[in-house]
Amino acid sequence: MLRLLSLLAVFVPVHGLFYERFEDLPVREFDFIVVGGSSRHGNRLQILTVHTGGTAGNVVANRLTEDADIRVLVLEAGGSDEDAYNSRVPLYAFRLQGSQYDWNFTTTPQAALNDRAIPYPRGFIIGGSSSINVMLYTRGPSEDWDRMAWVTGDSGWTWNSIQPYIRKVNGLSLHFLLSDPHKLKNERFVPPADHHNTTGQFDPKVHSFDGVNSVSLPGWQYSSDPRVFEAIAQSDGEFPFNEDMNSGFQLGFGWAQSTIGEGTRSSSATSYLGPKYIERKNLFVLLHARVLRLKQTNTKFTGANLAVRGIELTQDTGNTIHALQASKEVILSAGSVGTPTILMHSGIGDPTELKTVGIKPLHDLPSVGKNLTDHPLLVTAYNANTTDTPDDILRNETFARPFERRWNETKTGPLSTQGRILGWFRFNLSSPVFGGVPDPAAGPNSAHFEIIIGNGAGIPPPIGHYLGLTVAVVTPTSTGSLKLNSSNPFDAPLINPNVLGTDFDFTAMREAFFASKRFASAPAWDGYIISPTVNVTDDNLDDFIRNNTGVVWHPVKTAAMSARDADYGVVDPDLKVKGLDGLRIVDASVLATLHSECTHTSPDLYHRGTSISLDQAGL
Ligand SMILES: Cc1cc2nc3c(=O)[nH]c(=O)nc-3n(C[C@H](O)[C@H](O)[C@H](O)COP(=O)(O)OP(=O)(O)OC[C@H]3O[C@@H](n4cnc5c(N)ncnc54)[C@H](O)[C@@H]3O)c2cc1C
Ligand SMILES: *[C@@H]1O[C@H](CO)[C@@H](O)[C@H](O)[C@H]1NC(C)=O
Ligand SMILES: *[C@@H]1O[C@H](CO)[C@@H](O)[C@H](O)[C@H]1NC(C)=O
Ligand SMILES: *[C@@H]1O[C@H](CO)[C@@H](O)[C@H](O)[C@H]1NC(C)=O
Ligand SMILES: *[C@@H]1O[C@H](CO)[C@@H](O)[C@H](O)[C@H]1NC(C)=O
Ligand SMILES: *[C@@H]1O[C@H](CO)[C@@H](O)[C@H](O)[C@H]1NC(C)=O
Ligand SMILES: *[C@@H]1O[C@H](CO)[C@@H](O)[C@H](O)[C@H]1NC(C)=O
Ligand SMILES: *[C@@H]1O[C@H](CO)[C@@H](O)[C@H](O)[C@H]1NC(C)=O
Ligand SMILES: *[C@@H]1O[C@H](CO)[C@@H](O)[C@H](O)[C@H]1NC(C)=O
Ligand SMILES: *[C@@H]1O[C@H](CO)[C@@H](O)[C@H](O)[C@H]1NC(C)=O
Ligand SMILES: *[C@@H]1O[C@H](CO)[C@@H](O)[C@H](O)[C@H]1NC(C)=O
Repeated sequence: MLRLLSLLAVFVPVHGLFYERFEDLPVREFDFIVVGGSSRHGNRLQILTVHTGGTAGNVVANRLTEDADIRVLVLEAGGSDEDAYNSRVPLYAFRLQGSQYDWNFTTTPQAALNDRAIPYPRGFIIGGSSSINVMLYTRGPSEDWDRMAWVTGDSGWTWNSIQPYIRKVNGLSLHFLLSDPHKLKNERFVPPADHHNTTGQFDPKVHSFDGVNSVSLPGWQYSSDPRVFEAIAQSDGEFPFNEDMNSGFQLGFGWAQSTIGEGTRSSSATSYLGPKYIERKNLFVLLHARVLRLKQTNTKFTGANLAVRGIELTQDTGNTIHALQASKEVILSAGSVGTPTILMHSGIGDPTELKTVGIKPLHDLPSVGKNLTDHPLLVTAYNANTTDTPDDILRNETFARPFERRWNETKTGPLSTQGRILGWFRFNLSSPVFGGVPDPAAGPNSAHFEIIIGNGAGIPPPIGHYLGLTVAVVTPTSTGSLKLNSSNPFDAPLINPNVLGTDFDFTAMREAFFASKRFASAPAWDGYIISPTVNVTDDNLDDFIRNNTGVVWHPVKTAAMSARDADYGVVDPDLKVKGLDGLRIVDASVLATLHSECTHTSPDLYHRGTSISLDQAGL
């Protein structure tokens, strides 16, 4: 109580958690507290986090501010999510791409995609990509995690070690976070929006019901759903059913779990910066704050590391630059695109490449921006003999109105749901994909490809009703890169995921497409599927793939974690930047292997074949 009173006496009143203007930050008091150091614990930490949008930044900020003596500032280039209606409404998730909440990046022309440059959305909003993504909550197979632990030489990254951050189990504590992982678990499994009986649709034993980030099963049913399960039963075991793909054993089709609670998106901002935490007097969030570069904060002398605890940010186009310094650490969570970009503008990267764009090298780390990897994705659709799809809602405002009113008033109905049914599958060992290459999966129980069943077309054409069968390769072997185009921090970087850049990836996409066609040809679809929307023949198949493949937007590895003694990599297994003091990275760029899950949201280590997300992992 006394401590509370003394904090109130020192702080100017805080009107909400989000600050819009640098000038409004109670900076003097902030500095005074730190310098004054009048706390009971002696060592005060002042941590500056450059947002971890999707995700992990808000999680870390939340965890660190559990201790009232730790003062955290979160910086976010984008704005508030308060009025972002399309971010709240699950069905409208696709409308966020290319909107004011998107950075609107584009890749470089992709050689294997007939030189097409493809859109590369990233969240430009508090919550980062977890505020604009498709909300699929996928932890990936246990083998992916165990492989990452092996690659990085740190057993703290195994599936078993990560579980306490996701859900309650008897586990150990994560090496670098201060708080007890059991205090704040990621997952809060909640009933679906329609409160249907979910027995048999998930395994309660592998979930937590009292964490921070809401996760639920689809809250609206369609007439296509029972046919999916009939087709599974008719597949002779090729497409088995899996009651819960998030148990560590991922293979098979199962009900999608999504970061949705009460029919509404649960992002890292709505959860980890939610009402329960907003009151914390030691947590500050500055919006519209674009970090231009990091600054060294000591003078290098023999034997000591360079310290990088300074940052430069701007809230306009760079006319006014504000400088800040963390007494303890700068934690970068600017994402797989933003983080390597900031590092390179700060002179941290490959010195030769930096000099070509006119940047003075500060710290030699050639792996920055290298090895960029993403999941190739091919959207296909079938004309469906039904009107029971969300296609009309998504293309006809008049038609949508009553459903929108229903969602506005009760958060139920078709707008409450996005993902439906997903499946994870392997190629058998006689498959042509393995011509001359070793199996790139993390183990014998890890998927090579994913099939996503979508009711409706996602972004529907003007007429018709659809069943979507989208496939993704979740063990891509091609790697690309992220480079700077100039020394101007406002210029977009050159993003090259090198989609389908190897024979394995291309062949895997072809075989995944064939698998989805086999699934669509099951008798269960008679009278429902009328025809494919595009006629693909042996003659035009490869061209069809080149013309239509995109990615799932799961970039990883651009500031990759590696073993302490590795001769490559950007961060060590505690996520500290190698060879520097005061700088850590906690976003998806550190992921050392692309999981067959996602890079998603909550224990978010990545979702999907690398698909879980950093915040799920408790990062
Ligand atoms: C359209 C889309 C759909 C997806 N669907 C799924 C899904 O269904 N399931 C799943 O698991 N994953 C999905 N993902 C991936 C997942 O959302 C991300 O992997 C996850 O959010 C982690 O992203 P990140 O670490 O790259 O950082 P982000 O979450 O993108 O966070 C980076 C943050 O840093 C901010 N920032 C960047 N540069 C600066 C700067 N210079 N100064 C200040 N702030 C800055 C950004 O504005 C952003 O808020 C999807 C991604 C996209 C884009
Ligand atoms: C992305 O494009 C949209 C639509 O043109 C625009 O409103 C938004 O400001 C753009 N995002 C950024 C970060 O510039
Ligand atoms: C839900 O379904 C299961 C199995 O079908 C049944 O045993 C259970 O009683 C149902 N629960 C409720 C609350 O109806
Ligand atoms: C890319 O990753 C591989 C390991 O997967 C590693 O051997 C290689 O050194 C990395 N390249 C760079 C430039 O970091
Ligand atoms: C949109 O929906 C309304 C209401 O159902 C309907 O009357 C109208 O014909 C639809 N418009 C189009 C272009 O289909
Ligand atoms: C639902 O709420 C949003 C946001 O407040 C509003 O823009 C929209 O018009 C509402 N829709 C209906 C049908 O009331
Ligand atoms: C393996 O996969 C190939 C290609 O899909 C298929 O033709 C073959 O029948 C499969 N073999 C077995 C043993 O399942
Ligand atoms: C990179 O810079 C060149 C030359 O200024 C420009 O033409 C190109 O559009 C830039 N690329 C990107 C992705 O911005
Ligand atoms: C469409 O469904 C109806 C029944 O709902 C059925 O009578 C009709 O044959 C179906 N059409 C096609 C092309 O399958
Ligand atoms: C596909 O081929 C069939 C049979 O030749 C034809 O009826 C149909 O119109 C074609 N569909 C498309 C989308 O071209
Ligand atoms: C691929 O795109 C090219 C260029 O737009 C077009 O000429 C070709 O017909 C397309 N091929 C297929 C199979 O869609």
